[in-house]
Amino acid sequence: MNVLLIGSGGREHALALALVKSPLLDRLFVAPGNPGTARIAHNVALDAGDFAKVIAFCREESIGLVAIGPEQPLVDGLTDALEAAGLKVFGPSQAAARLEGSKGFTKDLCAKYHIPTAAYGRFADKDRALAYVREKGAPIVVKADGLAAGKGVVVAMTPAEAEQAVESLFSGAFGAAGAAEAVVEECLDGEEASFFALCDGEKAVAFASAQDHKRVGDGDRGPNTGGMGAYSPAPVMTPEMSARVMREIVEPTVAAMKAEGCPFKGVLFAGLMIGKDGPKLIEYNTRFGDPECQVMMARLEDDLLGLLLACAEGRLPPNVRLSDKTALTVVLAARGYPGTPLKGGRIDAIDEAEKIPGVSVIHAGTKMEGGQLVANGGRVLNVVALADSVAQAQALAYRGVDAIRFPDGFCRRDIGWRAIGR
Ligand code: AMP
Ligand code: GLY
Repeated sequence: MNVLLIGSGGREHALALALVKSPLLDRLFVAPGNPGTARIAHNVALDAGDFAKVIAFCREESIGLVAIGPEQPLVDGLTDALEAAGLKVFGPSQAAARLEGSKGFTKDLCAKYHIPTAAYGRFADKDRALAYVREKGAPIVVKADGLAAGKGVVVAMTPAEAEQAVESLFSGAFGAAGAAEAVVEECLDGEEASFFALCDGEKAVAFASAQDHKRVGDGDRGPNTGGMGAYSPAPVMTPEMSARVMREIVEPTVAAMKAEGCPFKGVLFAGLMIGKDGPKLIEYNTRFGDPECQVMMARLEDDLLGLLLACAEGRLPPNVRLSDKTALTVVLAARGYPGTPLKGGRIDAIDEAEKIPGVSVIHAGTKMEGGQLVANGGRVLNVVALADSVAQAQALAYRGVDAIRFPDGFCRRDIGWRAIGR
């Protein structure tokens, strides 16, 4: 079968590496892809926002499955358009992608179906949001309702900070996502983890857990980023905790979405807080995480294409096989990130890193310029290592990092610290 994968980041390079191992695959196209996917698949300059062009391409190339990596095309309804044209898709419909696209939708669903999450209020009116903040006090969390590329959340430690966050949200400082609506919620305590489940509209199967490192600097300091590193599994997600999350959070959500007339197909990414009264949902994303996907794919032993097809066709197997080893990735970012990253920095010696057994290098924001690989985004490369423990995977990943020459890049030196400290 021919497959079209939508996206251009490290997540999509990792997915492509797993897809090309499939015995079911004939040709893999990636739109638009990156220099990493170009080595193993056919990159195509297709704009995911132009549904008619994507459909025409799928017909021309007899595409048997379209797999959608990022959230924007899901929220924009690409799945619906492709399915209406008779194509098979891995990724939720626009109505089901509201689990990521609208925090208010998700909170209301949790309330209606008794899914554990932080207590909250939903406000289209600034003065009511301010009154709620004053009533509840701090710490408290202020969120923009819609997609905000990771910039829509303020965890306010004082009432003044919370009121300021509400003011700036309604003045449009969080982008269009916030100007319309705010969710204000209880601040949860505990350890954060990410949990991924594959869903086929009726059933869900646990995929894997991971932990991300959102802050730019060592020791979890500095501004938030899209993720500076990750590992899988997350030690806090024991088999018992994973089973509990499936039973108390994921399965009730899949049942709720079906009952609401918008069955969820694709991968459900639950951001969790594991506290003393058990797991609570912080938020959902409706796609694989980036860079979490890179570490989960390194552990996957089953055929990814078979699994994605099973999601699309409503016939998920009862479980997914992953290696018991730990995968850890370090993100190499361009200087300036998460502000304006320096573009065009030369990258050399990736092959030296790849010679180290257990190390692979994933392209996230790179491009070829006159035969030279250069940086072309904030998060540039992901060095992934697979080993028997977090400490070993960490050491191996940094050996890979140190083999690469990218003078205009930087990385955190402490990815995995929490798990190693346990
Ligand atoms: P989100 O964009 O919803 O993932 O939120 C970004 C980050 O804000 C999360 O990863 C958490 O660290 C933090 N956060 C969000 N909601 C809460 C909450 N209710 N309690 C504590 N921390 C939160
Ligand atoms: N790494 C977090 C995300 O993909 O949203």
